Amino acid sequence: MPQHRGVRVNAAEIHPEEKSAMSNDLIPPTPSDETYAVDEDQGDVFTHADPFDLFSDWLALARLTEPNDANAMAIATVDEAGLPDVRMVLLKDISENGLTFHTSRLSAKGRQLLTSGKAALCFHWKTIRRQVRFRGAAVEVSQEESANYFATRARGARIGAWASKQSQEMSDPDEMKRAFAELEKKFANEDDVPKPEYWSGFRIIPTEMEFWVNRPYRMHDRLLFKRGDANANWNATRLYP
Ligand SMILES: Cc1cc2nc3c(=O)[nH]c(=O)nc-3n(C[C@H](O)[C@H](O)[C@H](O)COP(=O)(O)O)c2cc1C
Repeated sequence: MPQHRGVRVNAAEIHPEEKSAMSNDLIPPTPSDETYAVDEDQGDVFTHADPFDLFSDWLALARLTEPNDANAMAIATVDEAGLPDVRMVLLKDISENGLTFHTSRLSAKGRQLLTSGKAALCFHWKTIRRQVRFRGAAVEVSQEESANYFATRARGARIGAWASKQSQEMSDPDEMKRAFAELEKKFANEDDVPKPEYWSGFRIIPTEMEFWVNRPYRMHDRLLFKRGDANANWNATRLYP
């Protein structure tokens, strides 16, 4: 039975009884009053006046409870026609300067970020039923900063970054495997696999950060922090859910 880290990965392995328990309905049922009644209120979760401190607390909680990738975030961009695009990436650094992740500057997202200079981010942690959203400017980090991060990646992942022409069409599915094998040979006698020039990092400098927490009966709480620019003070407001 194909598995990935102990979880089934082949839909053909879903047992008929499990299927019928879903009542042949793919979408989970809308919660009833009884279901809401057992939803516990999480109490005061807005424990800091500074949104970066608050985000750090929530991420720390998520790290303890999420089964994997608590640092996974959706990043939304727009293409040249204004059509939105979104995909997951991994947060690699957070400071009062912003949130940093790494990618290829030649990828679809890389090109969109370089053109528009703007992005939105969204974290959702199912275990603690919380969401955090960010909107702001997107700037490329220095080559030095991305090289420092690149050096921390596993050797295989560094070679993989050379082998992948991220977001480009692949005519033959074995092409990348062949490229990987060739690059392994090429770098075999080198201690270090250097960073490809196109591999880069982007930092999102938010002017908006919104914290959302699940409350019983969909009476969720939203706390929005806004500032005019990266040097201005934050203003906090509550929003209806
Ligand atoms: C949980 C998760 C984390 C990911 N992290 C990254 C990442 O940090 N950087 C990256 O370039 N792609 C990452 N990916 C792959 C992207 O979602 C995406 O497939 C890829 O970057 C190409 O996107 P684009 O064509 O829109 O540029 C991740 C995917 C998942 C599901």
